[in-house]
Amino acid sequence: MSWTRKDLIGLKDLKREEIETILNTADSFKEILTREVKKVPTLKGWTVANLFFEPSTRTRISFELAAKRLSADTINVSGSFSSVVKGETLLDTAKNLRALVCDIIVLRHSMAGAPELLAGALPDMGIVNAGDGMHEHPTQALLDMLSIRDRLGGLDGVKVLIVGDILHSRVARSDIWGLSKMGADVSVCGPLSLMPRGIEEMASVYTDLDEAIGGKDVLIFLRIQKERQESGLFPSLREYHRLYGMTDDRLKRLRRRVLLMHPGPVNRGIELTPRATESDHSIILNQVTNGVAIRMAVLYLISTVLSGLRRT
Ligand code: CP
Repeated sequence: MSWTRKDLIGLKDLKREEIETILNTADSFKEILTREVKKVPTLKGWTVANLFFEPSTRTRISFELAAKRLSADTINVSGSFSSVVKGETLLDTAKNLRALVCDIIVLRHSMAGAPELLAGALPDMGIVNAGDGMHEHPTQALLDMLSIRDRLGGLDGVKVLIVGDILHSRVARSDIWGLSKMGADVSVCGPLSLMPRGIEEMASVYTDLDEAIGGKDVLIFLRIQKERQESGLFPSLREYHRLYGMTDDRLKRLRRRVLLMHPGPVNRGIELTPRATESDHSIILNQVTNGVAIRMAVLYLISTVLSGLRRT
């Protein structure tokens, strides 16, 4: 097993073998989730704190379920109800969680680099990045890879197109790093105003969706992030949908085996029509289901390293 990290901050720094270890571990955990009693004692006695400073449905709930399926105790701390609003720093909050004998912190934060800051300052705690600003969302990309692997049998040579707001998307960055390391051929498509500088060094870039879709196996549509956007990056949501959405017309023209994915939450009628969201091409809910196995794998692998560190 090639896993030596006490933290998971991003996929940019991970080796292909490390990503494979997480995906294979998640595969072995999937069976537990089909049992009548969906629980194993692997993390009994461990405490996982979910510290979320931004809204979340999928990530927070699946981390909590993952920890519970492994018999860990869980604590959910919402940033807006924590003492951070009274002026406590993020680092002091984390140190207090350590003093309360938490072992692993799962952190979602609007500031890129926040999980790395905690990871460096807390040598005997595990830190998992659950999305930091516009930087990375590693477990989302891992569950995306697991979902593609489930359907297509592997990732090597798979042609993936990521569509939409690449500029503001931590999911796009983690997907590009992870999928490229696993041998997939990654392209992006969207208006140039929503492309980050230097993107052409990471992926092939398209601005015309109909041209970009040709020959692709997987289409990952990204959420338009109204909360992170300055105004004027595209003319209107209607225009955006016409140019960069999975319209019913585009849906009719898709090859039979093409997969439609979205990290959620979906803005129905903007990134995908309701028909596309519900179509046989869509594996959006399979992605959500795979999130639990991926997060079980990440928590378990980190716990093995922490156990070793604490013994020495
Ligand atoms: N994909 C994702 O991060 O969804 P949530 O914001 O609901 O966690």
